[in-house]
Amino acid sequence: MKIAVLPGDGIGGEIVAQAVKVLRALEHDGLRFAMEEAPVGGAGYEAAGDPLPEATLAIAKQADAILFGSVGDWKYDSLPRAKRPEQAILGLRKSLGLFANLRPARVHEELADASSLRREVVAGLDILIVRELTGDIYFGEPRGISTLASGEREGVNTMRYRESEIRRIARVAFEAARRRGKRLCSVDKANVLETTELWKQVVIEVARDFPDVALTHMYVDNCAMQLVRNPKQFDVIVTGNMFGDILSDEASMLSGSIGMLPSASLDAANKGLYEPIHGSAPDIAGKGVANPLATILSAAMMLRYSLERPQEAARIEAAVQEVLRKGYRTADIHTAGMREVGTDEMGDAVVAAL
Ligand code: IPM
Ligand code: MG
Repeated sequence: MKIAVLPGDGIGGEIVAQAVKVLRALEHDGLRFAMEEAPVGGAGYEAAGDPLPEATLAIAKQADAILFGSVGDWKYDSLPRAKRPEQAILGLRKSLGLFANLRPARVHEELADASSLRREVVAGLDILIVRELTGDIYFGEPRGISTLASGEREGVNTMRYRESEIRRIARVAFEAARRRGKRLCSVDKANVLETTELWKQVVIEVARDFPDVALTHMYVDNCAMQLVRNPKQFDVIVTGNMFGDILSDEASMLSGSIGMLPSASLDAANKGLYEPIHGSAPDIAGKGVANPLATILSAAMMLRYSLERPQEAARIEAAVQEVLRKGYRTADIHTAGMREVGTDEMGDAVVAAL
């Protein structure tokens, strides 16, 4: 199995190294991974003058799956947008057609007290956010900053969805709901935005093929509120690119830390890119304190969705559960009485539990 390993910037290298270690540990059971590493983001810009160097894109295209760390650093903020690190992940998503982003938010029993919300609100939580990833205001044209005749500057972005784009992400979400609690909540802003009015209509049309899944609709502002009021009311949430970006960061805090949430970004054939939902955290980069569990859990998702090794995926998830049960905690999830460890030690603990 060919895996493209793209650590990126900030804490990316440290956390990806832990996931690689965990995958290597599985190789003892007869599995073989051919891993090829390549620079991306700020690292890509340093190496080849481009956040997504052609050689990196080629490696990603040839692989069965991509393990991605994180991109971004303040030091690149003054570069033209096309050269900024974020363009790497946006470019990978777009050029590989990774339209379906699965972001599960699960509260590990052991971490229910690490959340900023009360234990009873979050304990046992298990929701899945299905975020559309290659459309919406992220990619819509026209876009840009221009100067009007009056001399005043104007910024423009375009929220835009085609019916076919909505239909395919809706199908992914209904299929996912069918395999879980059979409830799907479609999140829109149909009271204000036509794009999402169409979203709602198309989701209702797709629902006809899934009579066993209960479909509801919610405005995005209400959803943001409900996620902190009573998150357990949700099973699967499906929404557009921008709303999904925002809601998934919010949902991550329910699980105690943004350092816990993995993600899968899939194309129509389940080829995928796997990354933690958090960013490059330049403030703690190089200190060896970042939480590698989101990345390790992303590797588990990779085994499940792209490599068709559900047993190994479950073994990684069980190992993570085990290290949490034993009290290992990185700083972001540390609570009194637990054993605080660094990035490397956490990775080693997961390998030992495997
Ligand atoms: C995410 C990130 C990215 C996004 C950034 C880094 C471009 O926030 O994956 O959620 O906005 O999609
Ligand atoms: Mg985000």
